[in-house]
Amino acid sequence: MADKKVIVVFGVTGAQGGAVARALLADATFLVRGITRNPQQKAAQKLKKMGAEVVKADLEDAQSLEVALRGADGAFLVTDFWEHLSEEQEVAQGRRVADLAKQLALSYMVYSGLENIKQLTGGQLAVPHFDGKGRVEEYFQALGVPVTCIRVPSYFENFLTVFRPRKASDRDDYELALPMGNVPMDGMAVADLGPVVVTLMKEPEKYKGKTIGLSMDKLTVAEYAVLISKHTGKTIRDAKISLESYKMLGFPGAEELANMFRFYHMKPDRDVSLTQKLNPQARTFEEWITEQRTAFKNL
Ligand SMILES: NC(=O)c1ccc[n+]([C@@H]2O[C@H](COP(=O)([O-])OP(=O)(O)OC[C@H]3O[C@@H](n4cnc5c(N)ncnc54)[C@H](OP(=O)(O)O)[C@@H]3O)[C@@H](O)[C@H]2O)c1
Repeated sequence: MADKKVIVVFGVTGAQGGAVARALLADATFLVRGITRNPQQKAAQKLKKMGAEVVKADLEDAQSLEVALRGADGAFLVTDFWEHLSEEQEVAQGRRVADLAKQLALSYMVYSGLENIKQLTGGQLAVPHFDGKGRVEEYFQALGVPVTCIRVPSYFENFLTVFRPRKASDRDDYELALPMGNVPMDGMAVADLGPVVVTLMKEPEKYKGKTIGLSMDKLTVAEYAVLISKHTGKTIRDAKISLESYKMLGFPGAEELANMFRFYHMKPDRDVSLTQKLNPQARTFEEWITEQRTAFKNL
């Protein structure tokens, strides 16, 4: 045990970090040090029981991060834009970890980034929850930290939450209101991210310096609707909502998400065969949805 390398996992009580920590624990090549602001919470305690070390630290507090990263060999970093909705805050958090990774000479990092859309589109389109992560990707690379940036597509799990089919106002069936027209949208189960990161951590030399767009399926909204209908017994249709109407839905983040969908129309680089190679057990949408019948029961 003493000779096992330590991997620090940020966001360990959340979707991405939780998946990564569980997969690293199951694989058992590395020791897992999970980071949370509140080690007493249930998700943190559960990971502790599974064998993770749980350390209290805050991405806002460099000193706590230094203690958390000291002695580690590598780290997985995800930052949460949605908690504060500030691009600058997300960039500052990411850079704080990048600076420490350099200072402490971590041998490898996996960073959950995304495209700097503002830069890619010459300022035409700004999507702060992507742009900030893109700036952090650039920062890691400029510092020369040995890093692989992964770009996670829309989680399949979003169909149970933010993209949940809604009851149609004038009918008995349900509608999927995602403004993608007939353009396919990439996705994967966030639960399947864990083994992807384990593969990277075990073969850093192969993937250092690369940026990898992940995806397990590229389906149109109509195709997602057909598969949800087929496996849940509910009738789901594509609401055929436009980007403009989506923007006007009025929930917090609607405009930000509408701009993200606009970017998705440009078909960002997401590589299904590489994702399958990194996690041969990762599920397609149909494989995932067959396991969700109960979750969709009370739509
Ligand atoms: N939803 C999607 O389809 C999708 C796709 C691609 C990328 N993303 C990106 O994924 C990110 C969110 O990741 P997630 O889904 O795993 O989030 P999540 O399930 O909401 O969990 C957020 C995690 O971040 C941690 N965290 C937040 N602020 C922190 C801070 N100041 N210091 C330390 N830890 C902090 C939380 O830890 P504690 O509360 O325990 O401290 C928690 O573990 C977002 O930035 C989003 O843009 C989402």
